[in-house]
Amino acid sequence: MATAALLENPLRQGLFSDRVPEPCSLVIYGASGDLTHRKLVPALYDLFEKHMLPTSFNLVGISRSKMTDEDFKKHLKESLKESKPQLSDSLWESFSQNFHYVAGGYDDFKAYQALSKLLDDLDAENGAAANRIFYLSTPPNVFEAIISNLGAAGLNREEKGYARIVIEKPFGHDLASAKELNVKVKEVFKENQIYRIDHYLGKETVQNLLVMRFANSIFEPIWDRRHVDHVQITASEDLGVGSRAGYYESSGVLRDMFQNHLFQVMCLIAMEPPVTYEANAIRDEKLKILKSIRPFEERTLSQFAVRGQYGPGYLAGERVPGYRQEEGVNPKSITPTYAAIKVYLDTWRWHGVPFLLRSGKRLPKRATEVSIQFKEPPNLLFKSNVSELSPNVLVVRIQPDEGITLKFETKVPGMTMEAKTVNMDFRYGTTFAEGTSEAYERLLLDCMLGDATLFIRGDETEAAWEALMPVLSRWENTEPEGDFPNYEAGSWGPAAADHLLEKSWRKWRRL
Ligand code: BG6
Repeated sequence: MATAALLENPLRQGLFSDRVPEPCSLVIYGASGDLTHRKLVPALYDLFEKHMLPTSFNLVGISRSKMTDEDFKKHLKESLKESKPQLSDSLWESFSQNFHYVAGGYDDFKAYQALSKLLDDLDAENGAAANRIFYLSTPPNVFEAIISNLGAAGLNREEKGYARIVIEKPFGHDLASAKELNVKVKEVFKENQIYRIDHYLGKETVQNLLVMRFANSIFEPIWDRRHVDHVQITASEDLGVGSRAGYYESSGVLRDMFQNHLFQVMCLIAMEPPVTYEANAIRDEKLKILKSIRPFEERTLSQFAVRGQYGPGYLAGERVPGYRQEEGVNPKSITPTYAAIKVYLDTWRWHGVPFLLRSGKRLPKRATEVSIQFKEPPNLLFKSNVSELSPNVLVVRIQPDEGITLKFETKVPGMTMEAKTVNMDFRYGTTFAEGTSEAYERLLLDCMLGDATLFIRGDETEAAWEALMPVLSRWENTEPEGDFPNYEAGSWGPAAADHLLEKSWRKWRRL
């Protein structure tokens, strides 16, 4: 395509634009926490190595622990070395030269005044141009205190530079609390200052769903109820709940994986083409999908949703405990660690096409994928000679082994009409020299650039909660049908998840 045509096309402009952020200060609340150490600082370091951090960049960590700037840096360096053992002292020095730490309670107004003064001083010293990002990586019960104190200290104002707030998940615990949090945050920040994180949207392969659908013309004509039999979206994890029982006990798999990650992936698969590659155009389309989810009804819920919890079992040859035996878990807990749900989208495009979503912990392997399963040919010509034909499937592997596979039937060479399913395969690993970036790297960069396309808007998060509420409240208020735990660690989940599909002769894909 000629350069002029490339530039005229807004989707392409969005894809290839220059990405160098202006000077800024990033303030992280919850700076001594796991996310800061494991994800945020390594992502910032990767940006630094690629020369994509602003020329003038300050990091200010805030948490309740008493620490000096030097202690803070020392802890960050130690944890960064775990993921980057080759880290050199000189690179670390230049990366961390503008790192600072403020100790303070989240409801201690003086700490916000001290922060405000520190940020002003840093602006004067190294020209961060009064651009500020406040990143909430704390437990959600302190979000509101931080937001209102930031407002009271005037840190939400955008007189000289920008002020943005990044809110980690979970955004609310249910529809009512998500609405309340939206009200609170919007009292202090305008919607265009708010960046609600869903790290799945930062994954390279999730973004590729948009490119695959809207930078190619061959998929669109078959992307509908006439051609697609059903869609499966699976996020399988081999890990258990680990050290996060405190959070997970009150969350469970629906809040942890469905309300955000799986629903967002479903939106990208199902939405109509947006008019431009621009945050609100894309979010408008995703919102329509979330609003089109056919409401779950209590009477028929068991035909649409199955829950599970892992018991003890074996993974990679090792004995692992059941969920109820994990540290910090109630020995009678009914928190689901697995769910499978059948979603219908009441739109013209998708009427009658089931979207089958499943996710669980302690399944045999870590794999996230989307598979679009097409209808069988209308008239099976080869009935008498061919034992079994499989419908075409387009598989998008989100992780690991990122790539796309199209499965189709082919004639086996020979004198009979025998068919075999074969693959057309694209793999990121062998096609591109550079590896895929970490989700947080992309999201932090986008926030610095003021690009909210890969963040969730307030109305989207509410629509996602609204759709899930009937399932959540039913599961929380009733004992599980059959006994919990109902699947062994290392198995593919409860048998009831298979029954969810069997009536329609469909099957979960073997990953
Ligand atoms: C997080 C959940 O949001 O996503 C975790 O809280 C889950 O429970 C994780 O393990 C999965 O993310 P990823 O990137 O490993 O697929």
